[in-house]
Amino acid sequence: MSVNIAVLASGNGTNAQAIIDKAAAGILDADIRLVLSNRPGAGALERARKAGIPSRVLDHAPFADRALYDSELAAILRDCGAHIIVLAGYMRLLTPGFLAAFPNRVVNIHPALLPSFPGTRGGADAMAYGVKISGCTVHFVEEAMDSGPIIIQAAVPVDPEERLDSLMRRIHALEHRIYPQALQWLARGRLTLRDRRTFLAPDKNPRVTQNENCLVWPPLEEGF
Ligand code: GAR
Repeated sequence: MSVNIAVLASGNGTNAQAIIDKAAAGILDADIRLVLSNRPGAGALERARKAGIPSRVLDHAPFADRALYDSELAAILRDCGAHIIVLAGYMRLLTPGFLAAFPNRVVNIHPALLPSFPGTRGGADAMAYGVKISGCTVHFVEEAMDSGPIIIQAAVPVDPEERLDSLMRRIHALEHRIYPQALQWLARGRLTLRDRRTFLAPDKNPRVTQNENCLVWPPLEEGF
């Protein structure tokens, strides 16, 4: 059982890369039908090209409003056969019309422990606030920015002496593990949503990996 996905990214695309790598390694059962960016020149596009995955730019600049852009976007994603839409550093809010086209089928990653510190500077905002624990979150997407039922979170201790770039490196490294893991649960049909909560069906052969200096919950399974 594998799932058709499309990855939307506005920037460098290290999360897109992690997903590409896990799919290529056969650990993530996903067929990446398209990598799309709203920004020409986004690193994610080059990563897709290198991996031989179809890529496309849909520049938001010429569109009069978000609804028009999103309806074109939804048409492209439907045409490529994507079942799950994976936001990987995609820095645009999605309209209700778009989300209605893919109900409970859009997921996002954010570099903070949601619902705290949403937005484009989640990691920096958390550090500036002085949190003692930060991390990252994968969630189903609702209309409000960085909101929706949580699938998996990874938490790391924050050292007040640490520089932001060092903290963000640790968080990114965990993002690259929890996002493919969440997608694999989706691919396997192991996630259900009830009352805004996600429930993970247990694996028949659980092989949970242990993590040092972080808490990941639900736990990562072998290969992630
Ligand atoms: C990631 O850290 C992701 O969590 C964040 O953008 C970065 C993209 O990095 N997303 C958000 O802040 C969403 N609010 P990448 O392009 O290297 O994958």
